[in-house]
Amino acid sequence: MTIEAVINVDLDGPKINRHVYGHFAEHLGRCVYGGFYVGEDSAVPNEGGIRLDVVEALRELGIPNLRWPGGCFADEYHWQDGIGPRSERPTMVNTHWGGVEENNHFGTHEFMALCEMLGAEPYISGNVGSGTVREMSEWVEYLTRDGDSPMARLRRANGRDEPWRVRFWGLGNETWGCGGNMSADQYAYEARRYGTYCRDHGDNRLYKIAAGANADDFTWTETLMKQIGHLGCKRVTSTAFHALSVHYYTVTGPTWDQKGSATSFDTGEYYRTMVAAARIEELLAGHAAVMDCYDPNRTVGLVLDEWGTWFDVEPGTNPGFLHQQNTLRDALVASVHFDLFHRHADRLVMANIAQTVNVLQAMILTDPDTHAMVLTPTYHVFRMNRGHQDATSLRVDLRGPLPSRPVGDATLTTVSLSASRKDGRLLISLSNLDADSPADVEIDLRGGTVHDLRALILTSAAPQDHNTPQSPSAVAPRPYDGASVTGGRLRVHLPPHSFVTVSGTL
Ligand code: AHR
Repeated sequence: MTIEAVINVDLDGPKINRHVYGHFAEHLGRCVYGGFYVGEDSAVPNEGGIRLDVVEALRELGIPNLRWPGGCFADEYHWQDGIGPRSERPTMVNTHWGGVEENNHFGTHEFMALCEMLGAEPYISGNVGSGTVREMSEWVEYLTRDGDSPMARLRRANGRDEPWRVRFWGLGNETWGCGGNMSADQYAYEARRYGTYCRDHGDNRLYKIAAGANADDFTWTETLMKQIGHLGCKRVTSTAFHALSVHYYTVTGPTWDQKGSATSFDTGEYYRTMVAAARIEELLAGHAAVMDCYDPNRTVGLVLDEWGTWFDVEPGTNPGFLHQQNTLRDALVASVHFDLFHRHADRLVMANIAQTVNVLQAMILTDPDTHAMVLTPTYHVFRMNRGHQDATSLRVDLRGPLPSRPVGDATLTTVSLSASRKDGRLLISLSNLDADSPADVEIDLRGGTVHDLRALILTSAAPQDHNTPQSPSAVAPRPYDGASVTGGRLRVHLPPHSFVTVSGTL
């Protein structure tokens, strides 16, 4: 059976915010220390302690923003401990992640240097759980205030004259759990209070993001929306926050103690992972529907600032370090998420995969002993999809149902696709999640002619395949000749468990 679709390349959908391709780096395991930051004395080539090979690889992805310092860590982090001479910075215990000692050598200045090297906008998560309003307010002042002020003077004393620009501020993290165990009502008031004292200094306009719901906690979203909007057309928006977040992880196993291995899984587990990943559709639609009731003009942003796969840690590694391998299965989880992000471009303004290096669904894995760096299959999906950033989304209309298969009590749609247009180029992403059967797609391209067709494919013999220092390109994109266009009809053959991008000039 051939899947038939229609894309009107001249009918503009909403813009896909580049920030949905955002990232997340927490002080957790070897994400920051060993992943991004090795220290100035390391034998690994670095600038100010930041690994140059990691930065170079990530620059290829055009990372739009990087969220830091957590996660759960953010609500225990006191930023003033991470400034000034490194040898004088106090240490602390990272209670959430392995109980290891945090030496605070990677702090505000190091993070801002990393963002500059990556060309990414900083997204800072402030401490609501164990911090104070004053502490967060002063952090904003330290980073962004020009002219004379106590915090601007402190920043200058630490070697930085000019203020930085930092738009994105998170008002706590998972405040229903590790960020303070609050009720929705309690947090809604805290978010207003913290948000009020995070000031715009000069022309640095803050975009404040309230800590949102866990997965399908729609009541949490409704409680926050009530704080910033009034139902109906006479809408009044407070300036306390501009967006709210949601977190959703793709978890395969029946419990948190049995999430399953990242690399050793059978076909049943593979499909269960895909069902869990596809659930993001229901969650984005559900939170967006609640927000629509209070904000029909869609001025409040939805931010999925933690997403990705979460498997059991690699055998022999610290359980608190959340270190997992990354297979073709992870890549397909990512590609399906992106199709849905594109479809919800009218509400979703940002998303951050957890996490960029060495933790959960990482782009990059580094070896703790040899320091060898490996790009994961997930990295390649971000690279292949880069052209969607800030592109105009294009609706994909289907002439019939997409193929599907039963998975337990659920039904998994096994083909996923999305399209966009930017700078005169069309980009279509297609995923075939079926483990065994190929799929054929024929797209009637209307409203323009496509030239110079190019296709790439990411697939491998088995969904379990992954990259290692010994075999770094086992799963890597290759030029693909399974796509052709004649008379305005684009035909794409999708092998089992594959991700394909097709691009062309309009
Ligand atoms: O990404 C790992 C952890 O998952 C984060 O610290 C927390 O916010 C979430 O529960």
